[in-house]
Amino acid sequence: MHHLVDLRSDTVTVPTPEMRRAMANAEVGDDVYGEDPTINRLQERAAELLGKEAALFVPSGTMGNEIAIKVHTRPGDEVLIDEDCHIVKWELGAAAFISSVQLHTVPNQRGIVPVQEYARRIHPGDDHVPPTRLICLENTHNAAGGVVLPLEYMREVWTLAQHHGVAVHLDGARLFNAAVALGIPARKLAAYADSVMFCLSKGLACPVGSILCGSRAFIEEARRVRKILGGAMRQAGILAAAGLVALDTMIDRLAQDHARARRLAEAVANMPGFWVDMETVQTNMVYVQTEQPARRIVQQLETLGVLCLDVFPHTIRLVTHKDIDDEHITRAIDAFAKVAQ
Ligand SMILES: Cc1ncc(COP(=O)(O)O)c(C=O)c1O
Repeated sequence: MHHLVDLRSDTVTVPTPEMRRAMANAEVGDDVYGEDPTINRLQERAAELLGKEAALFVPSGTMGNEIAIKVHTRPGDEVLIDEDCHIVKWELGAAAFISSVQLHTVPNQRGIVPVQEYARRIHPGDDHVPPTRLICLENTHNAAGGVVLPLEYMREVWTLAQHHGVAVHLDGARLFNAAVALGIPARKLAAYADSVMFCLSKGLACPVGSILCGSRAFIEEARRVRKILGGAMRQAGILAAAGLVALDTMIDRLAQDHARARRLAEAVANMPGFWVDMETVQTNMVYVQTEQPARRIVQQLETLGVLCLDVFPHTIRLVTHKDIDDEHITRAIDAFAKVAQ
């Protein structure tokens, strides 16, 4: 695959040599007994980074999100959530399957749900209407093109939720992309959520793992739910070791991914048969609208050594990450130019 320019996702990143060294040398123990020193260190580090009391290492972002929903709600509760969020579109109905909650979906504009749209849907619950227990946000917003939810917006949603006694969960699979784009520490965004999930295995390039952060009581219950779901691991410090390296070395460099995505987007936007909404190109993703069926374009690009995903019949997604350099971007632009002719 090395000769290919793989822009399908930032999940295709492979661990750095430093991560592999740390993994090989990781001090480990049985984490079900709370005895894996490397996992404990990662959890403490992550909680501190996000300004939360505690954190939990989980196998995937999906599990982190679904544990959060389970802990925040009871069966029959309602969760307000933007209709294009990962939790709605790509977690296979897990919130219904695991938590028996009703996802009340709300339309968004370029990834942002106007705060008043949440406000008019919040309900305390009565004999006819389920109580609103949770609002879920996603930052950056994947389906909207990797757009950033601004800090002020996060604060407004949080204030509304607090006013009604509703919890906020932040799907921050790419939280550090948002923080880097905004030029602020991630903890400022995390301050406006009761619980935050972020992924180590996407732009931060770890092989496996996500982190769920929150209050001590929340994480204690999350740990119980993780066990129920079969997500408690044993000597997983081997994985957590990569996470510690990622938090030290992989956050600031996300700015390079953002600059490369912008360069790619600007070039493709000027080619016939392709359109890019440049306002959505804020982090490491580029969504390209195609005149031809997206599938056909993806196949043509593949023959030219460039991999990307057709996410809708006329939409292609391109994602930059640490295994994509300037030369790869040039090759991708050249391939698009050939297909555009
Ligand atoms: C916004 C968002 N949330 C959650 C996830 C789930 O992460 P995982 O694939 O680790 O389950 C993803 C994965 O792509 C994502 O993009």
